[in-house]
Order: sequence, then structure tokens, then C-alpha cells
Amino acid sequence: MSAHRADDPPLYFDFHVFVCVNRRPDGHPKGSCAARGSERLRDYMKVRAKQLGVPRARVNAAACLDRCEVGPCIVVYPEGIWYNVQNETDVDEVLQTHLLGGGRVTRLMLDLPPARD
Ligand code: FES
Repeated sequence: MSAHRADDPPLYFDFHVFVCVNRRPDGHPKGSCAARGSERLRDYMKVRAKQLGVPRARVNAAACLDRCEVGPCIVVYPEGIWYNVQNETDVDEVLQTHLLGGGRVTRLMLDLPPARD
């Protein structure tokens, strides 16, 4: 089910990618995406999306997305698909397969978290 209603304004972007760039102090038990290289991957994704000509997409830095243990993590809207991206090859695959091709990179997709109380 799409959260976008027929009477809503058109989507401003076709895709909105949030890349967690949160950084915690060294030694923090949860770790953080920035400590695993997410800032570099976010910069790369932004440039690469333009190089590949991904239309109407926005790549934004985000604060903690609350999935720290499985970072670096990104989430792609409007679908709400979560990925763990480790390197430039992973970023390229998300851009080419998901944003340009309309597919999914199943090897990088994060499962749903356990239900919360
Ligand atoms: S530090 Fe990236 S999800 Fe929390």
C-alpha cells in the first residue's frame, strides 16, 4: 500500500535517499555508520547519482536512523527499502538497480527489525 494519496501533490523527488552519517565516540557499544565509512559513501553516492543521470533523486545526509548495528545503512523512499552499503560497488548497485532500473538489490537489503513493544 502506498502512503501517497491520489489527491496529494505530486512527489517532489522520485527518490529520496537518506544516508546515516551519525558518529558516536570510539568504543560506543552500538557503533555508528560514520565510524564505518558512511560519510565517504554519502559523498560518493551524491556525485555518482549525478554522473549516472539519475533523474529527480535527492541524496541526503541523515542523523541516526536507529539501525546502528547493521550500518552503514541507507533508506530509499518512497518505497522505504533499507540497505546496508559497505563500499562504492554497493552504492553503484543501488543506484543502477533500484533508482535507475526499478529493481531491488536483495543481497544488500535489511530485513525488518523485530516488533517493538
Ligand atoms: S548510527 Fe547509523 S543508524 Fe544509528
